[in-house]
Amino acid sequence: MPTSHQENHSELTWPIEGVARVPYQVFFDPAIYELEQERLFRGPVWNYVGLEAELPHSGDFKATFVGDTPIVVTRDQEGALHAFVNRCAHRGALVCRELRGNRATHVCVYHQWSYDLKGNLIGIPFRKGIEGKGGYAADFSPTQHSLHKLRAATYDGLIFVSFAEDVEPLAEYIGPTMRPWLDKIFHRPVRVLGYARQLINGNWKLYAENVRDPYHGSLLHLFSATFGLARSSQGGGTLMDEVGRHDILHAHRRTEAQETAAYTNEGLRSYQAKYSLADPSLLKARPEFQDDITTSIHTIFPCLVVQRISNTLAARQFLPKGPDKFELIFTLLGYEDDDEEIRNIRLKQANLVGPAGFISLEDGHAIELVQQAIVHDKTACSFIEFGGREVASQDSLVTEAAIRGFWQYYRRLMGFNESQRGGGNHAK
Ligand code: FES
Ligand SMILES: [Fe+2]
Repeated sequence: MPTSHQENHSELTWPIEGVARVPYQVFFDPAIYELEQERLFRGPVWNYVGLEAELPHSGDFKATFVGDTPIVVTRDQEGALHAFVNRCAHRGALVCRELRGNRATHVCVYHQWSYDLKGNLIGIPFRKGIEGKGGYAADFSPTQHSLHKLRAATYDGLIFVSFAEDVEPLAEYIGPTMRPWLDKIFHRPVRVLGYARQLINGNWKLYAENVRDPYHGSLLHLFSATFGLARSSQGGGTLMDEVGRHDILHAHRRTEAQETAAYTNEGLRSYQAKYSLADPSLLKARPEFQDDITTSIHTIFPCLVVQRISNTLAARQFLPKGPDKFELIFTLLGYEDDDEEIRNIRLKQANLVGPAGFISLEDGHAIELVQQAIVHDKTACSFIEFGGREVASQDSLVTEAAIRGFWQYYRRLMGFNESQRGGGNHAK
């Protein structure tokens, strides 16, 4: 039976063309946003929340979000990871008010209920009242008032949490297609080099599309095309798991002559051979993997992107902040045993890719342009037929197949079926 909440959400008709169309309503409707929090972020998914490298010691913690629900991740005295909703079991205040740190206990500032690193209630001021008056009754049981605990699991040092009891084990969720690609990046211990945060005035799913969209890379990001960071003439493709929810977008090095010929043959404006950088050190890379890959973007549903662009490595987490806003957080990574030269290359290139550089600035702006244009019109849809209408991995960078894959899985979780009123539909 649909719950009353499901019955109340706004109507949604998904066009008969299926995943080759997306109704713009999903990007602005507050009722759909609410339903996503319940069915998707609190549904049978693993949400990325951080890296083990961010919490190396007992007592280390990190505050973040699952969807827009605040949570805390901790490492306990035995070294195990825990996660709980950052909401006091007394009257609902945010317990942890810092982004990161180290504490033996977490104390709510309002009435000072205190919790251990597993989220258990361990301290209650005036529990028995004062001089026999007030306080809690004798049958008050602290064990009934823990913080709301989530499941936590790790893969390759990436920490994921889930509200759901019925989600598959994390390694299965990531799946056999994605795992070797993550294993390759996280083959030795990583170190956090820093963070970059970007607030983008657009719906979070526009970013889920953007990171699965290989062909804007050389068109929107003219800098990348001009200076050879990303060209659609490169070899590469998009590789999905069997349900289309995760994706690897990979681009491979070709010779300068091959790329220039491919570009000039197509007459694309974005290849400007006459330009050069006054300081080419920005693009100076050092080969470090035994492959010819220049870029691989690994997207784990719903909100993690593991980035390898030239020598930059990063975990990107994107967090919805309402229907028309999301925060994009880059955790920039190197390896623990990096020498100074490679660390400096990573830091310099991070400026190119991140919010203060060209690439993420331009992605954020493109997303805001969409959000500004799609207001009100619930029947209008986007058109996603580049590279066909199917959801299938492709050996090409000129395709929107992985975007269709995202929508295929999104619709399954949300219960939005084709050309039906969406209110009572169940997720399959
Ligand atoms: S709301 Fe946290 S102790 Fe009262
Ligand atoms: Fe981009």
